[in-house]
Amino acid sequence: QPVDAFDLVIFGGTGDLAVRKLLPALFHRYVDGQIPDGTRIIGVAREALDDEGYRQQITAGLNGAAAQNPEKFKAFLKLVTYRPLDARKDEGWDEFAKLIGQQPDHVRVFYLSTSPDLFVDICRRLGHYGLNKGESRVVMEKPIGRDLASANRINDDVGSVFNESQTFRIDHYLGKETVQNLLALRFGNALFEPLWNAEHIDHVQITVAETLGVGRRGSYYDNAGALRDMVQNHMLQLLCMVAMEPPSSLSPDAVRDEKLKVLHSLKPINDENAAQLTVRGQYRAGATEGQSVKGYIDELNEDSKNKIEKSQTETFVALKAEIGNWRWAGVPFYLRTGKRLAERVSEIVVAFKPVPHSIFHPSAGPLAQNRLVLRLQPDEGVKLWLTIKHPGPGGLRLRHVPLDMSFAEAFGVQQSDAYERLILDVVRGNPTLFMRRDEVEAAWRWAGPILAAWEDSGESPRPYTAGTWGPSASVALIERDGRTWNEDNEDNNE
Ligand code: BG6
Repeated sequence: QPVDAFDLVIFGGTGDLAVRKLLPALFHRYVDGQIPDGTRIIGVAREALDDEGYRQQITAGLNGAAAQNPEKFKAFLKLVTYRPLDARKDEGWDEFAKLIGQQPDHVRVFYLSTSPDLFVDICRRLGHYGLNKGESRVVMEKPIGRDLASANRINDDVGSVFNESQTFRIDHYLGKETVQNLLALRFGNALFEPLWNAEHIDHVQITVAETLGVGRRGSYYDNAGALRDMVQNHMLQLLCMVAMEPPSSLSPDAVRDEKLKVLHSLKPINDENAAQLTVRGQYRAGATEGQSVKGYIDELNEDSKNKIEKSQTETFVALKAEIGNWRWAGVPFYLRTGKRLAERVSEIVVAFKPVPHSIFHPSAGPLAQNRLVLRLQPDEGVKLWLTIKHPGPGGLRLRHVPLDMSFAEAFGVQQSDAYERLILDVVRGNPTLFMRRDEVEAAWRWAGPILAAWEDSGESPRPYTAGTWGPSASVALIERDGRTWNEDNEDNNE
């Protein structure tokens, strides 16, 4: 549904996220005619830039997109301005408030794309000028805090200026096409839901593998690690979308209530069982995509003056989670994510139980499990692996093949980036795909004891060579249970 012209203020407007993700997302929506002229996109950061300087910076971030559509790009840049502001200094805020006040009818979105320790100062100032009143919204990036206590502090601070209905905690994985398609697939088809339980599902795997290292984000990442950066938010959100009960509608609270119940039902992982249920790793030098790459520590040191020799931060996590409720009791959810892995692939695999009895002669080949694979990236799509007869005469031989639907092939459209959808959802005031405060808290309540157990164990993350699938212990984690990580390999069971 179309939106009226709005104001979007990006705090941290010169940062990586703004330049690499937010502004390109806005440009794409503009090209598609979804951002009306009259909209104001205001980058805010401490750097002393003028509008032109800022426009040049974002042009660099937009790479080829600007060149492909120069006319539109010129028009888009007219919507973009810049204000140098320091959240901790008064200078410039009066003028900024006046500028925002010039369009009292616009929906206002304040996007906090800065380090969380600035959230409170920014929000207090917005509150001081009354900019939190009316159709004003605030967007926070994950991770919200680094544990439950710090998340509560941030939520309290922001909550003292913006109420919950104005607060949009973004998890861009919820904006990914395949994740939303999971809703359509589960609740728009009669086929899957009757099988969607412990009686018929053997296990679920969620993999978010990246080939990239930590790059320029080392100082953030070394304080966070993979559990805080990916598992506490993106991966748990994916798990919730797979595991939640059917909501009564798509209304924001109906969906979020169901996700929250899943988070509350996660069985605790703590000092007692973390060694059996989790594996953490850190990459060493190796090669990804044909290029040799540095190890984690060397990559951190590349950009920093204070050289370090050791870090306990994990760049890989694999774990076995379980949901203690009637639908899922006994069904493992294997999660793994890491940097500098063999391939960039994110997928959810739902593995069904084997048939109860085989009528086939052993020479027909083994019977494989049906698997439903939802591919988030790259090549978004859905595959349903089935057993069929190998075509032709020559006896009955079984084969395992996918019913394969690539979204790009089927619909011929390029998938839009998750941020494109989510930013406009904020403008529309639709929080369905955003995390409610209680979800963030529940996710920390589960993740906190895992972090504590790792710390208490005093063990270092296991080394793995960049360009592999992580430490061999993560293979052992699933193989101990007689299962394997999914390989997208036809006839992998032959
Ligand atoms: C971010 C993490 O939230 O998600 C990054 O902070 C990670 O470390 C990124 O690289 C992955 O997102 P995507 O959309 O590229 O899978």
